[in-house]
Amino acid sequence: MYLSILIFLTVLGASFNPVAAKDHQKSCTVRSGGSNTTDDAPAILKAFQKCGQDGRVIFEPTTYYVNSVMNVSWLKNVDIDIHGTLLMFSGRVADASSLQWSTDITYWLNNSMDVGYQNQSTALIIGGDEVRINGFGKGTFDGNGDYWYQWIRKQPNTSNYPGRPHAVTFDKLTNSVVRGLSFLRSQMWTMSIINSHNVLLDSIFVNNTGNWAQSSNTDGADTIRSSHITFNNWTVYNGDDSLSMKANSTDIAITNSKFYNGLGIAMGSIGQYKDQFETIERITVKNVEYENTLHAFYVKTWTADQNGYPPNGGGGGLGFASDMQLTNLTAKGLRGAAFAISQCTRFSGAPGQGNCTNSEFQIKNVVIDGLSGTSESTRVASLQCSAVEPCTNITIIDTSLQLDNGTLANGYLCGNVVNPVGFECTGAPCVGGSATGEC
Ligand SMILES: *[C@@H]1O[C@H](CO)[C@@H](O)[C@H](O)[C@H]1NC(C)=O
Ligand SMILES: *[C@@H]1O[C@H](CO)[C@@H](O)[C@H](O)[C@H]1NC(C)=O
Ligand SMILES: *[C@@H]1O[C@H](CO)[C@@H](O)[C@H](O)[C@H]1NC(C)=O
Ligand SMILES: *[C@@H]1O[C@H](CO)[C@@H](O)[C@H](O)[C@H]1NC(C)=O
Ligand SMILES: *[C@@H]1O[C@H](CO)[C@@H](O)[C@H](O)[C@H]1NC(C)=O
Ligand SMILES: *[C@@H]1O[C@H](CO)[C@@H](O)[C@H](O)[C@H]1NC(C)=O
Ligand SMILES: *[C@@H]1O[C@H](CO)[C@@H](O)[C@H](O)[C@H]1NC(C)=O
Ligand SMILES: *[C@@H]1O[C@H](CO)[C@@H](O)[C@H](O)[C@H]1NC(C)=O
Ligand SMILES: *[C@@H]1O[C@H](CO)[C@@H](O)[C@H](O)[C@H]1NC(C)=O
Ligand SMILES: *[C@@H]1O[C@H](CO)[C@@H](O)[C@H](O)[C@H]1NC(C)=O
Ligand SMILES: *[C@@H]1O[C@H](CO)[C@@H](O)[C@H](O)[C@H]1NC(C)=O
Ligand SMILES: *[C@@H]1O[C@H](CO)[C@@H](O)[C@H](O)[C@H]1NC(C)=O
Repeated sequence: MYLSILIFLTVLGASFNPVAAKDHQKSCTVRSGGSNTTDDAPAILKAFQKCGQDGRVIFEPTTYYVNSVMNVSWLKNVDIDIHGTLLMFSGRVADASSLQWSTDITYWLNNSMDVGYQNQSTALIIGGDEVRINGFGKGTFDGNGDYWYQWIRKQPNTSNYPGRPHAVTFDKLTNSVVRGLSFLRSQMWTMSIINSHNVLLDSIFVNNTGNWAQSSNTDGADTIRSSHITFNNWTVYNGDDSLSMKANSTDIAITNSKFYNGLGIAMGSIGQYKDQFETIERITVKNVEYENTLHAFYVKTWTADQNGYPPNGGGGGLGFASDMQLTNLTAKGLRGAAFAISQCTRFSGAPGQGNCTNSEFQIKNVVIDGLSGTSESTRVASLQCSAVEPCTNITIIDTSLQLDNGTLANGYLCGNVVNPVGFECTGAPCVGGSATGEC
């Protein structure tokens, strides 16, 4: 077997690259073992150890096989170049730089690492300060998710299966840029972003459409305990939350992006930890297009009653989601209410019908200004709010969603919405358990 752990440690002059960081001393090129029977993780880790601080780590235009977990949390002032020249959408073709994760499900279930929230797990942790990752529009993370999507359907519990890993977790990543990467068929969520601040994620393409089975739990990205995160020019094809902001996500911007087939941009779920105070604040969404998504924007909170523990159980959390401003949204074939609130999140396993209006988590200060296109749903909004902490200061203006027969969607269903601005409530929403925003 050809085993290659070749690291080139090269001393390069400051003129090596005009965008190079200051004080670049060293550059490491990672060599692939060339087969999925050779784990490239040791070679990758070695490159990061040598060049992960004040250096440059280069992935060549070839396929790297990742068969084990990597926790690279100590980066500092580093450029990570994931090169490629052709075809960014074909995971198994080796003419673009591609990292492929192995299909040994037993290994990953047993070894994936704790994300630090909701008992979620991950295959790869990247953290540090002044990290610049560039895929130049070609670099690809291929999660080999087809195997996971097929396998999960045979399990008794399909939601948030313990140990099923996220493709990557950015943990304590600060003052950093991630750009020009593709993520294909992520194992579960594509990206969790936790304890991270001042990060730009630009020009990211995600396609979690399964080839053999429909994917589930394949969110585009989830933010937790993070601030000043910008998602610009994202394209996400998936079947779950296109992007999701969870506990203590503040100052998040989503701009110039396109979401396909998923559930739309989600706030939450939140309020899952009993008596814990969590917030979502200052979210701006601008120039976003949707095609065949369930919603454009939705908020989901747990009820006041705790049933079990995360990831699939919980409830009883406190806090608020506030100051969410969305402008210039364009939709094609929305499948449900463009804007939905459900305060009755409970995944399978929670007993009884529960109480959907007792949440102590409040939703307030939302402006949706400019929402046009087509919809299959007559509902512009379905707002199922808590009776204990009603929704306040909700504005919806300048909407024009055309139905198949040419008329405009004009349903605004409200439960416990105080003084709506820009619209009049036309009826009551469905009140019942929901993980996706309407019953
Ligand atoms: C290697 O690839 C083959 C075929 O693509 C696949 O059947 C096998 O499960 C893979 N092995 C690992 C360890 O991923
Ligand atoms: C799971 O990991 C533990 C400790 O790391 C090890 O002892 C055990 O053999 C592993 N089981 C499997 C199925 O890999
Ligand atoms: C990752 O590595 C860092 C530092 O080396 C450590 O503090 C952290 O606990 C590790 N995370 C996991 C989930 O193993
Ligand atoms: C999740 O983690 C908590 C501790 O943080 C633990 O008490 C709980 O049992 C875990 N739940 C599951 C389903 O693993
Ligand atoms: C936006 O991202 C796509 C990849 O999804 C890329 O092809 C395109 O060049 C990017 N656009 C800009 C303006 O950077
Ligand atoms: C996404 O992946 C699916 C499954 O491989 C494929 O059919 C589809 O063409 C891909 N979409 C894009 C835009 O690449
Ligand atoms: C969220 O922030 C609050 C303080 O504002 C803190 O008490 C709470 O523990 C944080 N929750 C999480 C999940 O980090
Ligand atoms: C609205 O967003 C679309 C892209 O979705 C963009 O082409 C258009 O320029 C934006 N309009 C304004 C006024 O910013
Ligand atoms: C209503 O919410 C918007 C958006 O956060 C905010 O700009 C405005 O000040 C709020 N109005 C009141 C009266 O709180
Ligand atoms: C699967 O769900 C059942 C009942 O909902 C629960 O008792 C069991 O612990 C779950 N198993 C896993 C692996 O989450
Ligand atoms: C749900 O809880 C609220 C607040 O405690 C209460 O006012 C309401 O009567 C409850 N509804 C049901 C159906 O029990
Ligand atoms: C158009 O379709 C909607 C949704 O099916 C329906 O509610 C509405 O009455 C229809 N309007 C006309 C004029 O047919």
